[in-house]
Amino acid sequence: MTNANGTGTHAAALKDTVPEQDRPIVELRGAGKSYGNIRALHGVDLAVHPGKVTCVLGDNGAGKSTLIKIISGLHQHTEGEFLVDGEPVRFTTPREALDRGIATVYQDLATVPLMPVWRNFFLGSEMTKGPWPIRRLDIDRMKKTADEELRNMGIVLDDLEQPVGTLSGGQRQCVAIARAVYFGARVLILDEPTAALGVKQSGVVLKYIAAARDRGLGVIFITHNPHHAYMVGDHFSVLRLGTLELSADRSEVSLEELTNHMAGGTELAALKHELAQVRGVDVEELPEEEDLTAPAKASPASPEGTS
Ligand SMILES: Nc1ncnc2c1ncn2[C@@H]1O[C@H](COP(=O)(O)OP(=O)(O)O)[C@@H](O)[C@H]1O
Ligand SMILES: [Mg+2]
Repeated sequence: MTNANGTGTHAAALKDTVPEQDRPIVELRGAGKSYGNIRALHGVDLAVHPGKVTCVLGDNGAGKSTLIKIISGLHQHTEGEFLVDGEPVRFTTPREALDRGIATVYQDLATVPLMPVWRNFFLGSEMTKGPWPIRRLDIDRMKKTADEELRNMGIVLDDLEQPVGTLSGGQRQCVAIARAVYFGARVLILDEPTAALGVKQSGVVLKYIAAARDRGLGVIFITHNPHHAYMVGDHFSVLRLGTLELSADRSEVSLEELTNHMAGGTELAALKHELAQVRGVDVEELPEEEDLTAPAKASPASPEGTS
């Protein structure tokens, strides 16, 4: 975390035995979660480093939300280990995760649409002034701080008095990211922030993901879009039916391989064969079966031999 902006407060809190860059803030080791007898997640390894973006990809039902619910303190893992700063933890509320610097921006953002932007920025953590019996909201300071913080992240809004509901989905995500950064998040979890957005808005959100990373946060970016993931990702973890089917650093996997993994490998090749018999469907872009069996470079959880 050697950023020029000097937000090194967390660095001091880290033990100096392991080089800071090498030490994950959050780590899962063989973690899993069962809901009754439904096993939603099993044997997942994941490491989140400061100043890096870890992308978690997977189709619907792959276990992405379950994974982040464990890390954000909504659910508890039922197998394996969950460590923060190298120490095993088990959060019982999201508050506990937040106290350890783990902030989650959910897709349906917890904002109040009719309240001004600055007010939403401080929602639940309002600045006050004056001694206790006559303490009141410090509106001027909140407005000024929200304005500064948004600008620091490169987010320029014309008017912080405008209701949050008038912002675009992308802008709202950006405000939520800036807010998490301001309140001292070390790990930022984003659950499909670009899923409901158009191309341009997605680009804006990706830009602020990169900005959060550059400020030294470890980012967990959940998406089912390999293109979005590849634009900002340092590490890619692909979930499939609750298990890790790929875990690879950027240098170990190409966008094409990532896309193939996401597409569901052999299933898609089989689908290609079927679709080829339907008139008017162009299957050229779909992978051939042999492409998919090519070794996915350096993938510890390479799904070879599903026998
Ligand atoms: N609260 C729950 N109770 C029972 N099953 C659940 C619960 N939440 C998720 N699941 C199951 O766990 C699996 C993974 O779900 P989820 O983590 O939501 O996947 P994703 O976010 O990747 O779409 C799915 O089969 C889903 O039906
Ligand atoms: Mg989900």
